[in-house]
Amino acid sequence: MRVLVTGGAGFIGSHVVEALTASGHEPVVFDVRADPAADVRDPEAVARALAGVDAVCHQAAMVGLGTGFGDAAEYVSRNDLGTAVLLAAMAGAGVRHLVLAGSMVVYGEGRYACPRDGVVRPGPRAVADLEAGRFEPRCPVCGAELAPGLVGEDAPADPRNVYATTKLAQEHLAAAWARSTGGSAVSLRYHNVYGPRMPRDTPYAGVASFFRSALARGEAPRVFEDGRQRRDFVHVRDVAAANVAALRAGSAPGALTAYNTGSGEPHTVGEMARALADAHGGPAPVVTAEYRLGDVRHITADSSRLRAELGWKPEVGFAEGMREFAACR
Ligand SMILES: NC(=O)c1ccc[n+]([C@@H]2O[C@H](COP(=O)([O-])OP(=O)(O)OC[C@H]3O[C@@H](n4cnc5c(N)ncnc54)[C@H](O)[C@@H]3O)[C@@H](O)[C@H]2O)c1
Ligand SMILES: [Zn+2]
Repeated sequence: MRVLVTGGAGFIGSHVVEALTASGHEPVVFDVRADPAADVRDPEAVARALAGVDAVCHQAAMVGLGTGFGDAAEYVSRNDLGTAVLLAAMAGAGVRHLVLAGSMVVYGEGRYACPRDGVVRPGPRAVADLEAGRFEPRCPVCGAELAPGLVGEDAPADPRNVYATTKLAQEHLAAAWARSTGGSAVSLRYHNVYGPRMPRDTPYAGVASFFRSALARGEAPRVFEDGRQRRDFVHVRDVAAANVAALRAGSAPGALTAYNTGSGEPHTVGEMARALADAHGGPAPVVTAEYRLGDVRHITADSSRLRAELGWKPEVGFAEGMREFAACR
């Protein structure tokens, strides 16, 4: 298959390109950072790039939590206008297969269980609670402590920041495109992706990258909150393999199918910092009680649908992946 990879010069996109080549496909890179530079918001550039293409892996986006509300318009422009221009060009060119880089951020705080009230969905955490070091969300009904549960793909969306909102809108646009054209769309809702070529030293980078940069400077990784916030760190080669699996399997025409894409093995941010620090030979992480508004406490989703329906399974374990990541440049 000839596959257009938007964002193909980026962290995940470049691994998708490698994985496609390794499985006998023909990837075509489309990226503002590539040579020649190509912007998904440019209808003519997209139409030209779609010639002879069978499927699109749409990874191009502005990522991360950002630095405040000031960049909201830029997120919407790159992520949602960009996706709309791409989908319109696909509709015109008769390209009917899309794999979208989705994100876990669409779920917000996700699913929790209260000992009294059962499954509840806590709202955003209050500044006063975060300031006082009360990081765990409480039951919205009775205030009790909650246990994080596994979020399935059918959980209601609850985006908590601009980036999350744009990632959800991308899915809605892709679903509308699929209904209108009979195309098939898959959204792979990535968890925290890490591995070689992860962006570094930008406010938009992921937490594993911040920690590794600190260690490289000889500084301790600074772990926010109490370090017990849970994430699912999934290796970038496994994410790339999920893209290839989604292209191979296809999906129901006329609809968008979403798959949580994680290792299935949640770890705390503190554990991740320790694993990187150990692999690097120190210094040991410090837990700072700092916080970022818009961060959710735990992200623990259930990635079993992807395993069951697409026959994918992660190959890179946490300890091995973090050792490799600590060592790579
Ligand atoms: N890294 C993660 O943990 C993570 C988690 C969930 C979802 N995602 C999604 O995965 C995708 C890839 O993210 P990444 O981590 O590789 O980030 P990245 O910044 O390394 O890659 C994004 C690429 O898109 C390109 N790009 C941005 N705007 C563009 C535009 N208008 N036209 C053409 N190219 C453009 C950038 O130049 C960059 O190369 C994104 O859609 C992101 O939302 C990433
Ligand atoms: Zn309760």
